[in-house]
Amino acid sequence: MQLSQVKELEQKYLLGTYSRYEMLVERGSGAYLIDRSNKRYLDLLSGIGVNALGYNHPKVKLMLRKQLKRPLHVSNLLYHEHQGRLAQKLCELSGLDRAFFTNSGTEAVEGCLKFARAFASRLAQGNGGTPKFRILCLEGAFHGRTFGALSATSGKKYREPFEPLVPGFDFVEFNDTADLELKFTDDVCAIIFETIQGEGGIRPISEAFYSRARQLATERGALLIADEIQCGLGRTGQWFAFHRFAPPAEQSLLPDIVASAKPLGLGIPLGAVILKESVAKAINPGEHGTTFGGGPLACRASLEYFKILDEDKLLEHIRSAGAYFKSRLEELRDIPIVKEVRGEGLMLAVELTVQGKDIVKKLLELGFILNCTHDVVLRMLPPFIITEKQIDKFIKVLRTVLEKETEQEKA
Ligand SMILES: Cc1ncc(COP(=O)(O)O)c(C=O)c1O
Repeated sequence: MQLSQVKELEQKYLLGTYSRYEMLVERGSGAYLIDRSNKRYLDLLSGIGVNALGYNHPKVKLMLRKQLKRPLHVSNLLYHEHQGRLAQKLCELSGLDRAFFTNSGTEAVEGCLKFARAFASRLAQGNGGTPKFRILCLEGAFHGRTFGALSATSGKKYREPFEPLVPGFDFVEFNDTADLELKFTDDVCAIIFETIQGEGGIRPISEAFYSRARQLATERGALLIADEIQCGLGRTGQWFAFHRFAPPAEQSLLPDIVASAKPLGLGIPLGAVILKESVAKAINPGEHGTTFGGGPLACRASLEYFKILDEDKLLEHIRSAGAYFKSRLEELRDIPIVKEVRGEGLMLAVELTVQGKDIVKKLLELGFILNCTHDVVLRMLPPFIITEKQIDKFIKVLRTVLEKETEQEKA
């Protein structure tokens, strides 16, 4: 099938929720995607942060070949050998105590919100009070498309058509500790934020904001929820982005609940909620669940993800390649339409003074995949295996495209 035929079918039969790039994927190899006509594209977006090990990884292929001989699905009524091992891995790496598996990021966020409400309600049962139910979230946040996650997501375009959303959600100005203090009243049961906002334009939470939120949550018997779906699992060069404020051994500084997903299942849908024991105690058997979440294939793949990151020393590589990438992006600041360079590890962004959509289109034509978020932010979430040579190749082309765009803006 050619791209034109695929497009025609989709236009006729598919719900129109996406405006796709002009590219029909055929296969992938390393950091490259290859289309029907054999054109290679350097993938600087990794399926929006999912394909962290690139494509056609030999160790992944070997693992999948073996695992495909075993049942693809085992219900959560039975045991399989991988779920417990993966939960242990996530707890050891995060510093938290228990895990619950889901199929997607939004579902992990739903779990976080439900567990926070259940915790508040058990707390109230214990002391004879009324359960607190307000949840604070941040301006610019993106937590997903299901009703709970959407209620914690800011932005008219995501929310408006589906209102009224779940009650009890209030927005705090981004990194504004004064606004946080004002809104963190006694009826707040939790605060949720991305340690680095992804869709919001690669905006990191400040240490001051994190610490104050942690402190207020502890003082007021509320929970801190970190959404690490985009920024976690190694992307910033640490296992979790919140580790830069709260190392795994610092229990009192850690979030109470963490949402994880994206690269967790190596492309096989998998998400996770990771919790402290104190929160886990509030959840009884049967109160939450899933048919597919934590299946053997996804969990086995996930164990391989951690094994490869470890064996191939990819965290170190993310830190060095990320620092190199950022420094090369910073060189572009002499171009008038480049406003700011942001990010950490391999989660990077260039904010422009102009709309980025056409620039992304141009870059695609030239063989580079990235995206534009928040209208003016070029976002890069490359695979962890990206090399300095590939980064150089991209920077050269990006400079040409941005300089041309600057010329056009002037004209
Ligand atoms: C920070 C964050 N939270 C939640 C989600 C939702 O994840 P999913 O699309 O897997 O439902 C995303 C997706 O981009 C995300 O970036």
